[in-house]
Amino acid sequence: VRHVPIDVPSGRYEVVVGPGARHGIGALVAARLSSCRAAAIVTQQRLIDEGWLDGVDPGVATTVHVVGEGEGAKSLATAEQLCREFVGVGLSRRDVVVGVGGGVVTDLAGFVASVHLRGVALVLVPTTVLGQIDAAIGGKNAVNLPEGKNLVGTFHQPLGVLCDTAVLATLPAREWSSGNGELAKYALLAGDEALSIAAASIDDQVARCAELKGSYLVDDERDERGRRAILNYGHTLAHALESSGAARGGDVLRHGEAVAVGLSFAALLAERLGRIDHDRVQLHDAVLTSLELDATVPDGCTASELVKVMARDKKAHHSLTFVLDGPAGFEVVDDVDAEVVLATLRSMGAA
Ligand SMILES: NC(=O)c1ccc[n+]([C@@H]2O[C@H](COP(=O)([O-])OP(=O)(O)OC[C@H]3O[C@@H](n4cnc5c(N)ncnc54)[C@H](O)[C@@H]3O)[C@@H](O)[C@H]2O)c1
Repeated sequence: VRHVPIDVPSGRYEVVVGPGARHGIGALVAARLSSCRAAAIVTQQRLIDEGWLDGVDPGVATTVHVVGEGEGAKSLATAEQLCREFVGVGLSRRDVVVGVGGGVVTDLAGFVASVHLRGVALVLVPTTVLGQIDAAIGGKNAVNLPEGKNLVGTFHQPLGVLCDTAVLATLPAREWSSGNGELAKYALLAGDEALSIAAASIDDQVARCAELKGSYLVDDERDERGRRAILNYGHTLAHALESSGAARGGDVLRHGEAVAVGLSFAALLAERLGRIDHDRVQLHDAVLTSLELDATVPDGCTASELVKVMARDKKAHHSLTFVLDGPAGFEVVDDVDAEVVLATLRSMGAA
C-alpha cells in the first residue's frame, strides 16, 4: 500500500492506496480519533451484496445506513433521513461517519458528516475509480436540487481516504470508462507524464492522481483562488452533455465519459484559438485512445443547444468560459467567441 499525504490548511490526512486498504480503517480511527465510540457507515445495498463491507471494521460500535442509487439519492431528503438515523443511534460529536461507495455515497456521507451536530469526523472508502482518483479527495461534498446538480454542499475534509483497489474487481465497464475520463484529465494536466500515467497500473494511477489533486488543493482548499478551478479542465462541455441527457448505447453518459468528450473538445478549441499546436492535440488523442475512451459527441446533441447550456454553467459567470491549455499552461479563459465554439463542436461531428 501507498500513502499519499494531502496537505490542506484545515489539516493533513492521507490517501492510502492498494488492495486491502479498507481493512486499515480500525487502525486509522484508533490513531486519529481516540475518543470515538461509534461509527455510522453510509453505503449502498450493492456494495453490501458484493461483500465490500466485509473487513470494514472501525473498531467501535457500528451501524450501517443504506442509501439509494444514482443522482436522485443525492438529495436533501436523503441527507435528512441520514441525520435522523444518526440521532436515532446516538451518534455523538466524538464519533465518525464512514462513506463506503462511489461518488454519490461519499458526497452524501461528507455532507451529512459536516452538518450532523454541526460537524463530526469523516472517513471515506471510495469504491469506484472516479471516487478513488477524484471525488473522495479534497473535502468538497454536495447534494442535488431539482434545479441542478451539486447546488447545496460544504467543505469538510476527511480524516483519511482508504482507496482499496481490490474492490474495483466488481466495477461495471461503464463505471471504469467514467473513472478513466477523469483519469485522462489528471494525466493531461501532468504534462510530460501524460502517456505514462495512462499506461500505469491502477494502483499507480490512483496514487498519482491523489498526489496531483493534492497539489491543486494546497493553496486553494476552498476553490477561491483560481488554482483548484483548473481541475474543471474538460468540464464545461461535460456538464452541458450531462444536463442535456446525452447517451451512448441507450444508456446515459457517465460523468467521466462526458469529461473525455470535453477534453478532446478543449484541445481542439485551444488549437483553433492559436493557444496550442497540433502535437498537443495529438497528445490528447493518444491519452484518450490509450484509456479506450470515446471522444465523439454523442448522437442527438446539437452544437447550438450545447452552447446555450454552456453559457449557463454555474462556474462560467454568464459568458462562455473554459479551462484551456496554452503557452502559459492551463488557465481559465473567459468570453470565448461562440462562433469558434460552434465550429469546434461541428468539427467533432455535432449537428
Ligand atoms: N466531491 C467531489 O469532489 C466530486 C468530484 C467528482 C464527482 N463527484 C460526484 O460523484 C458522483 C459520481 O460518482 P461515481 O462515478 O462514483 O458514481 P456512483 O457513486 O453512482 O457509482 C456508480 C455505480 O457503481 C456502483 N458501485 C460503486 N462501487 C462499486 C464496486 N466496487 N463494485 C460494483 N459496483 C460499484 C454504485 O452502486 C453505482 O451504481 C457524482 O454525483 C458527482 O457529482 C464529486
